[in-house]
Amino acid sequence: MKVLVTGGCGYIGSHTCVELLNNDFEVVVLDNLSNSKITVLDKIKTITSKEVKFYEGDMIDSNILDRVFEENEIDAVIDFAAYKAVGESVQKPIEYYKNNVATVLELINAMKKHNCKKLVFSSSATVYGTPDVVPITEDSKIGGTTNPYGTSKLFVEQILNDLYKSDNEWDIAILRYFNPIGAHESGLIGEQPNGIPANLMPYVAKVASGELECLSVFGNDYPTEDGTGVRDYIHVVDLAIGHIKALEKLASEGRGLFIYNLGTGKGYSVLEIIDAFEKANGLKVNYKIVGRRAGDIAECYSDPTKAKEELGFVATKTLEDMCRDAWNFEKNFR
Ligand code: NAD
Ligand code: UD1
Repeated sequence: MKVLVTGGCGYIGSHTCVELLNNDFEVVVLDNLSNSKITVLDKIKTITSKEVKFYEGDMIDSNILDRVFEENEIDAVIDFAAYKAVGESVQKPIEYYKNNVATVLELINAMKKHNCKKLVFSSSATVYGTPDVVPITEDSKIGGTTNPYGTSKLFVEQILNDLYKSDNEWDIAILRYFNPIGAHESGLIGEQPNGIPANLMPYVAKVASGELECLSVFGNDYPTEDGTGVRDYIHVVDLAIGHIKALEKLASEGRGLFIYNLGTGKGYSVLEIIDAFEKANGLKVNYKIVGRRAGDIAECYSDPTKAKEELGFVATKTLEDMCRDAWNFEKNFR
């Protein structure tokens, strides 16, 4: 099976390319390198001893999409290409809607034109807004997003639902990721955000390395066990494997639009993450408690039952694995 991976040079995309190649899929990557480096392709090759076919280009460009589909018999697409910085999306809403929504319309058009109707889409737990209850199932209410990034994911989910209603020859898997962290165990690929990280684990790793001085823990007065925010952290390699399972589902059964949470089902607090990171790596992480971050919620974790029952997907890596691999990558990268 030949798979087009858009955004395949990025954090989750690169790990997914590794799992695809390890499972004997052929991989074509389209990436404009707006948030990644071309050197990741060599790292993928070092890990797998296999190569991906690479096109440098923007998914908004129908010409490059046509070229990719004309030059390769693509059976399915996994779409990772998007911007993902929540804070930036508030400052640059138009750029976010263009890059996260308009690009998907171009992709779908190209897929339709070339009769490729299997799509796996990267969505996010952010579509649940502020959940009424945890754990969150796929039937929990969606909406109430508070930033253009989150709303862009909601819009694309709606578009894909409408597309499927109009033509049920499409096979679509919408995957709602919880909080991916960690890196490949080789330490060759991982998350390397531009500038100061906004997310917890990359920030923790940079404090541990001494690159940043002190982690600010955003609030210890939430209604959680230790008062800090609770999230469902999932190892990025487990998440990547979830995409293989989703592809297998679309290839075997076909005919359907499916939505799955990809998480572990277990929530950890910020203080638990710091503690686990320190223990896994024998390091100290300086931190101080500060006020809550605007827009944050107390608790967000998944009910992963549907993905287990329908895809056979269960995240197997532990929090210790996530902390060790995140640090291993940070050390290697510096
Ligand atoms: P990332 O920024 O590391 O990867 C995205 C890749 O897409 C980058 O290589 C970038 O250069 C490329 N890209 C962006 N716009 C493009 C365009 N118009 N044309 C071609 N390439 C383009 O991000 P990631 O963390 O790997 O996230 C992948 C997907 O998963 C995104 O859609 C993101 O919204 C979603 N997601 C991520 C998280 C997370 O915590 N990382 C959580 C939920 C959902
Ligand atoms: C963020 C995004 C969300 C996205 C998700 C996964 C925001 C508001 N939301 O969620 O849309 O789907 O990442 O990529 O950015 N924390 C600290 N100090 C820090 C950083 C974080 O205490 O320096 C805390 C937060 O308050 C939260 C937890 O750590 O309780 C996790 O934060 P983060 O990694 O930013 O992820 P989310 O907020 O869950």
